[in-house]
Amino acid sequence: MRTLIKNGTVATASDLYRADVLLEGEKISLIGIDLATMVGQVDRTVDATGKYVIPGGIDPHTHMDMPFGGTRSADDFETGTRAAAFGGTTCIVDFAIQPQKGALRAGLDEWHKNAEGKACTDYAFHMIVRDVNKESLAEMDTLVKNEGVTSFKLFTAYPGVFLVDDASIFRAMQKTGENGGLICMHAENGPVIDVLVEQALARGETAPKYHALTRPSRLEGEATNRVIALAEVAHVPVYIVHLSAKEALAEVREARDRGVAAYAETCPQYLFLSYDNYEEPGFDGAKYVMSPPLRPKGNEESLWAGLKLDDLALVSTDHCPFCMKEQKELGLGNFAKIPNGAPGVETRMALLWDGGVRAGRIDINRFVQITSTAPAKLFGMFPKKGTIAPGADADVVVWDPDKEIRWSAKTHHMRVDYNPYEGRLTRGAPTHVFSRGNLLVENGQWVGKTGGGRFVKRSARAVK
Ligand code: URP
Ligand code: ZN
Ligand code: ZN
Repeated sequence: MRTLIKNGTVATASDLYRADVLLEGEKISLIGIDLATMVGQVDRTVDATGKYVIPGGIDPHTHMDMPFGGTRSADDFETGTRAAAFGGTTCIVDFAIQPQKGALRAGLDEWHKNAEGKACTDYAFHMIVRDVNKESLAEMDTLVKNEGVTSFKLFTAYPGVFLVDDASIFRAMQKTGENGGLICMHAENGPVIDVLVEQALARGETAPKYHALTRPSRLEGEATNRVIALAEVAHVPVYIVHLSAKEALAEVREARDRGVAAYAETCPQYLFLSYDNYEEPGFDGAKYVMSPPLRPKGNEESLWAGLKLDDLALVSTDHCPFCMKEQKELGLGNFAKIPNGAPGVETRMALLWDGGVRAGRIDINRFVQITSTAPAKLFGMFPKKGTIAPGADADVVVWDPDKEIRWSAKTHHMRVDYNPYEGRLTRGAPTHVFSRGNLLVENGQWVGKTGGGRFVKRSARAVK
């Protein structure tokens, strides 16, 4: 299959120029001016006049089909990656989970089973380590060397579920420092949060907003400081996931200013929503119950500054949807039982274009960097993914800078019964989404193949 995308403006993390792009088979084969006369017969021509040609989005933080909070995240690999593609994302990195008292291998096998033949876009896995012992430490090496799973997430949050103690975190960090992988940290002080939760419930404070009020920013800052210190001593690069609070950002910035290999992502919900959403009527605040929680208005300004200065390397989604009906409702009368997580895999690119590029907060190159190139580089997929270049995978999006979307649960493609941005209008959306040369989405219609996504083995020692 040969596709010629003509008359567009190619945007990468570093360049912006008018050119045609030829996709041949699964790869980008040629970039140049007036290719039509030179390349002869093609199977498809897309006129990208007035549009940008950008690398497909890479979302390095999703949870498809994830057992959590007494239920399972509502999108599986089929519905979640299809929704991702509608939003311009052509690769996700999902979190496989070590079963309690089980082997990393068992968790990895389970995630492969969940994704294979279902995913509509390419996908990769991080591994969540919840039991650090001799066997799992040895398995970490195997995953990096043989399985293309080169990043590990550990938690200082969720006691009894995912939390591991500092000594275990440190051992896993040392091991990862040796094998060339990357440590991802969920940094909140879980044990202290549990005390605050217990005290709030004892006072009869059961509404969704108390989820946020029992997870203060200071405890995200404290845990971020601690895990960066541990990583420094262990000589391993560390990546803070879903950073929400300016206190945590200050810790990342301080470390980076000293030359420490500390990286962080934030998510659209921390840029575009705030604590005020928890004050929505009735039980609606449950839509926004996620960890870390949304922060008070004004906090987002620090995050935008962090994105500008690269103290925040990229924007992922932490896509972890639970329906209001039957899932979030598990926490009616007790906020601590509301499953933690929110949808976002489809909305990320449009929100960042509209609220970032159009609003003058970031330029187009930075948009490409934080949605595609930085995730590809940090997580060992560059230059196969994350750029427009000859030889790269033809994961290509034709992006209309003016196309409007009015977001609604009635029309979005994520399998969840609410949208955190219900009614919001964004400008800027994909018209064509290619995954390894295969057209998945054309002018808002699904034209792709279900299950065409492939597992991506990632490289170690990839941090920039
Ligand atoms: O609330 C969240 N973030 N749910 C997903 C699990 C996690 O901690 O990333
Ligand atoms: Zn987390
Ligand atoms: Zn997450």
